Amino acid sequence: MTRIASQTSTEQTDQYAVIGNPITHSKSPLIHAAFAEQTVQNLHYSAMLAPREGFVESVQAFRQQGGKGLNVTVPFKTEAFHLADELNEAATRAEAVNTLSFVEDKILGANTDGIGLVRDLQENHQIQLRGKRILILGSGGAVQGVLQPLLATEPQFVMIANRTVEKATHLAQRFQDLGDIHGGGFSDIQTPFDIIINGTAASLEGIVPPVSDHCLAEQGICYDMMYAKQDTAFVTWGKQHHAHASLDGLGMLVEQAAESFRVWRGIMPKTSNVLHDLR
Ligand SMILES: NC(=O)c1ccc[n+]([C@@H]2O[C@H](COP(=O)([O-])OP(=O)(O)OC[C@H]3O[C@@H](n4cnc5c(N)ncnc54)[C@H](OP(=O)(O)O)[C@@H]3O)[C@@H](O)[C@H]2O)c1
Repeated sequence: MTRIASQTSTEQTDQYAVIGNPITHSKSPLIHAAFAEQTVQNLHYSAMLAPREGFVESVQAFRQQGGKGLNVTVPFKTEAFHLADELNEAATRAEAVNTLSFVEDKILGANTDGIGLVRDLQENHQIQLRGKRILILGSGGAVQGVLQPLLATEPQFVMIANRTVEKATHLAQRFQDLGDIHGGGFSDIQTPFDIIINGTAASLEGIVPPVSDHCLAEQGICYDMMYAKQDTAFVTWGKQHHAHASLDGLGMLVEQAAESFRVWRGIMPKTSNVLHDLR
């Protein structure tokens, strides 16, 4: 699950991990081992299961053992936000942290999910977001994490639609100063959208949120933040609705990991080979 890239035998190996519950299926150790090998960084990256009520204790124990940084996944991103002493802009906006760095006596918190999504769309798939009409399905942690970097690309407007409507309207209000953004329910979706991003957990159940057949514009793009070996339910929906491209979130996973790696090591790894190997 982990690998060490060696520089010299006397150099200390820096420790990193992903912390979550559950954590067994995480691909992050593989991804970071590949980044470390590629950039010749002497580090070890493992997966750490924390008890649901024991996140802070687990982080502190890892830190006391000399750990340099953690990726944080479900269900601990909000707790990580509260634990951090300093936050980057995306984490402040998201009120969620997926990257912790232990620097001297401080805990620094960042959120790299949104940068990961934007890079996957813009750089890996050459899909421009500027001036586009974007629909986001869901209002959970993942959607919170991507809104600031997404709005920074200057889309024409963003609509957030969610099963629990108040969560979408509240979220849209929180980001209103960053662009034209509205919230509502699935039945409020009217305009055809150039890009539809599914950030709900519905794909986990093989379900597509109940959106109209007409909400995808001609030549529109569908993107599911979830990824799987086979097409997810939403990727299938996109193909059935003649999307120009219907993509899953594996690229987002790799790109957010690359940004965490950059935060920790100051080096941006190349992602294309890693993504190719994971596929
Ligand atoms: N590729 C990546 O790097 C990456 C990173 C982060 C997350 N993700 C993926 O993003 C998805 C969401 O994660 P999250 O952390 O945001 O989860 P979360 O905080 O639990 O939020 C779940 C969201 O899904 C909605 N939902 C759940 N079941 C639904 C259903 N049957 N029909 C319609 N809506 C439903 C919820 O609506 P309510 O508010 O009404 O409950 C909520 O908006 C997951 O599939 C996760 O794997 C991918």
